[in-house]
Amino acid sequence: MSRTLLVLILCLSALRLGASLGSRSILRAVADKNGDSEDYAVDLNASNFDAVLRDTPATFAVVEFFAHWCPACRNYKPHYEKVARLFNGPNAVHPGKVLMTRVDCALKINTNLCDKFSVGHYPMLFWGPPSKFVSGSWDPKQEKSEIRNIDNGRTAEKLLNWINEQIGSSFGLDDKKFENEHLSSNISDPGQIARAVYDVEEATSTAFDIILEHKMIKPETRAPLIKFLQLLVVHHPSMRCRKGSAEILVNFDELSPANTKQEEVAGAVKNFQICGKDVPRGYWIFCRGSKNDTRGFSCGLWVLLHSLSVRIEDGESQFAFTTICDFVHTFFVCEECRQHFYEMCLSMSSPFNKARDFALWLWRTHNKVNERLSKVEETMGTADPKFPKMIWPPMQLCASCYRSRNSQKIEWDEDEVHTFLANYYGKTLISLYKSNSVLGNVGAKGILDESTTSTNAVAVPVGAALAIALASCAFGVLACYWRSQQKSRKYYHQRYSLKKYDY
Ligand SMILES: Cc1cc2nc3c(=O)[nH]c(=O)nc-3n(C[C@H](O)[C@H](O)[C@H](O)COP(=O)(O)OP(=O)(O)OC[C@H]3O[C@@H](n4cnc5c(N)ncnc54)[C@H](O)[C@@H]3O)c2cc1C
Ligand SMILES: *[C@@H]1O[C@H](CO)[C@@H](O)[C@H](O)[C@H]1NC(C)=O
Ligand SMILES: *[C@@H]1O[C@H](CO)[C@@H](O)[C@H](O)[C@H]1NC(C)=O
Ligand SMILES: *[C@@H]1O[C@H](CO)[C@@H](O)[C@H](O)[C@H]1NC(C)=O
Repeated sequence: MSRTLLVLILCLSALRLGASLGSRSILRAVADKNGDSEDYAVDLNASNFDAVLRDTPATFAVVEFFAHWCPACRNYKPHYEKVARLFNGPNAVHPGKVLMTRVDCALKINTNLCDKFSVGHYPMLFWGPPSKFVSGSWDPKQEKSEIRNIDNGRTAEKLLNWINEQIGSSFGLDDKKFENEHLSSNISDPGQIARAVYDVEEATSTAFDIILEHKMIKPETRAPLIKFLQLLVVHHPSMRCRKGSAEILVNFDELSPANTKQEEVAGAVKNFQICGKDVPRGYWIFCRGSKNDTRGFSCGLWVLLHSLSVRIEDGESQFAFTTICDFVHTFFVCEECRQHFYEMCLSMSSPFNKARDFALWLWRTHNKVNERLSKVEETMGTADPKFPKMIWPPMQLCASCYRSRNSQKIEWDEDEVHTFLANYYGKTLISLYKSNSVLGNVGAKGILDESTTSTNAVAVPVGAALAIALASCAFGVLACYWRSQQKSRKYYHQRYSLKKYDY
């Protein structure tokens, strides 16, 4: 009885989750257009307003309330679009900063929404952190509000000046991509990692796209992929990636029966988006380079791996180690990287028993890569000038991590390093994500959070996959429950790894 009830609750919550995911596809739709006559500003209406503003990685949002019949609004549109071009879409000049949106108050569906913001004339523009607009309102008599009326935005120049004043930037209407960069490379600011959760999502879905594009799912590569998905289902820092991984895992049989043709597999998997419909977004935030060919995916992949390493439990540490090693070795298309990394994996002389040891191993390994690359990049001139390789974390980020330091050698306080890693890639990484999603999907969020905390070493990946997979079932409750159980049996004992490690 109680189990049926649980399943029912899971499935109901899934419907709400599904609704919020679906609505984000419009960001993509707008983003995919390239022609200059296309709209950059995102059209919102009462049904997607909250979801879009809750899920955007942007730090600020501008919402324009207008009416499509209003001539002044039509004349204003090119001005608004000139500014939106800078901030919206994968070709944004300054991505992830400001989300530019509009709401047509002449549509009946939006009447209440426009009322809540006391829209008295068209066009009327508001500014604020996106999350403040979610279930938000504005009243001219209200004294303190984080949502502000933009009173001086009648031309593109004026609007951009107004925005520049708010965030202390000096964006120009003629800025081009990777020129006039305003990258926040303040290495003393531990809070910057909070924005990397969006890059972790970007890296996850990019990795998955690469696997499909390069037709890398083969009988011999299934095991490493399944193991990695199992790890993601439970420990990925983003809720939507946990959900997407679970869906792929549960349907893996259909996606890749051992004898299926690769094209069919790719076709089937394409229907699953590992982090939801709107990822990849096409740009990086924390991992954005100051040149078009630096940082990005490989940075995002490191952050994903570190964030997994601080989320696992002791009993999973060896599983996580072999899983990550095999994943990088099998699916990271940078030949030099995968070989180097795998050599470091193979040089481990005994299995991990503690999650702490694994997190520190990954940190040490990353520093070895940094050390090697800092020399290579210096001689080749390939470094990103704003992000030179360094031994990490620098003193400014974690002074207590250093016991002593001289020009030859750093003596680390590994307890402090581990504490720092756990905070940085744990709590801080998802702080922004949490604060943005606080207002919605309470039910679904509850489930997914629970599955991350109630882990237990052996049954973990599948158990949690099951819970989340159930939550995403669209069939009859019982059929859905039965089906997931059948699936889970198959992978329960799958504990093979690609190659034997040295013990
Ligand atoms: C598994 C793997 C192996 C790679 N091997 C190679 C290679 O052999 N040759 C090559 O040319 N490139 C390699 N790369 C790519 C390279 O390491 C960088 O990812 C790339 O040059 C981009 O560098 P970045 O400045 O963005 O910082 P990244 O090195 O990508 O680091 C991303 C972020 O992680 C944080 N960080 C830095 N060091 C550490 C650490 N020790 N512990 C925890 N967090 C840290 C910093 O905030 C940094 O901004 C590899 C990447 C990966 C994921
Ligand atoms: C609201 O906007 C979304 C995305 O643009 C669209 O799919 C939907 O049809 C709109 N709803 C109404 C009632 O116009
Ligand atoms: C960098 O971040 C630190 C910590 O948040 C802050 O104290 C400092 O003022 C910042 N520096 C700059 C130049 O923004
Ligand atoms: C980077 O920009 C240069 C010049 O604008 C261009 O030739 C090159 O193809 C770009 N590289 C990538 C990876 O986009």
